Amino acid sequence: MTSSNHSGAHGAVIADTVAEGADDGAIVELRGAGKSYGNIRALHGVSLTVRPGRVTCVLGDNGAGKSTLIKIVSGLHQHTEGEFLVDGLPVRFSTPREALDKGIATVYQDLATVPLMPVWRNFFLGSEMTKGSGPLRRLDIGRMKKTADEELRNMGIVLDDLEQPIGTLSGGQRQCVAIARAVYFGARVLILDEPTAALGVKQSGVVLKYIAAARDRGLGVIFITHNPHHAYMVGDHFSVLRLGTMELTASRDRVSLEELTNHMAGGAELAALKHELSQVRGVDVDLLPEEKDLTAPVAAPGEGKS
Ligand SMILES: Nc1ncnc2c1ncn2[C@@H]1O[C@H](COP(=O)(O)OP(=O)(O)OP(=O)(O)O)[C@@H](O)[C@H]1O
Ligand SMILES: [Mg+2]
Repeated sequence: MTSSNHSGAHGAVIADTVAEGADDGAIVELRGAGKSYGNIRALHGVSLTVRPGRVTCVLGDNGAGKSTLIKIVSGLHQHTEGEFLVDGLPVRFSTPREALDKGIATVYQDLATVPLMPVWRNFFLGSEMTKGSGPLRRLDIGRMKKTADEELRNMGIVLDDLEQPIGTLSGGQRQCVAIARAVYFGARVLILDEPTAALGVKQSGVVLKYIAAARDRGLGVIFITHNPHHAYMVGDHFSVLRLGTMELTASRDRVSLEELTNHMAGGAELAALKHELSQVRGVDVDLLPEEKDLTAPVAAPGEGKS
């Protein structure tokens, strides 16, 4: 059984691979993991489980440790405490290549694409298809174009022209191409670091749709975001980081969007922010939400009014 199956549509194969190695179906697991940079403790005591066909959301404010967490999983950094397991076995990656060999693919926000190259060429960047052998070996352009087209369509991504430079696509479309690419190259775990952060509402919706498509193909997705609304639209499990530790970890049936929003906003911080803003001319703080607005259950019309 291999995790670098290049045949494309193989959600079922992916699920089989996982069942062999891990007893509870987890592909990736962190147990009390942490990371210190010298004497700065960026992450401490974090536990996280990634399962096939599930979206695990990692939320947190700036500096909370989100990137540090995914850098451990994607092989860029090593954990300095706790355990990191893949398919139930302890691992310690020294390079992103080792993570990729285990089927863990990361789509970074500053996508590693060559803007002036066509979409199909970017799809195969670094893993080009060739034909012939020895001195006659050359790029198999026809097959690459055809495959890229099929794979993008399989994911429901329709682009008019795969010859157009990838730089002419919108940020959201480029994210989608990167997701389709990871799926095609046999990823079992897809890590997305704030894929919707720089996008508008419509494009964010498109990216969320392909996160769901990757999940439906059997991938375990780690979705990093600041945005509880985006997380709640596709997430199965939510972990909120604060100052390097896990403040909340709950499956979808255990946490509401309101609770998630409140954890992210931090009631007390919100009050402090409001106070700061009240000192700024032109900002009407009365229009900003109160802590209780974020926690209180939504009242039915006419209810709770005196
Ligand atoms: N290479 C490094 N050396 C020293 N400290 C670091 C390093 N990388 C991150 N840190 C520190 O670790 C903490 C967590 O940073 P991290 O980048 O993981 O946060 P984040 O949640 O991704 O934030 P953001 O939302 O801003 O991307 C921060 O206090 C940061 O300053
Ligand atoms: Mg970050």
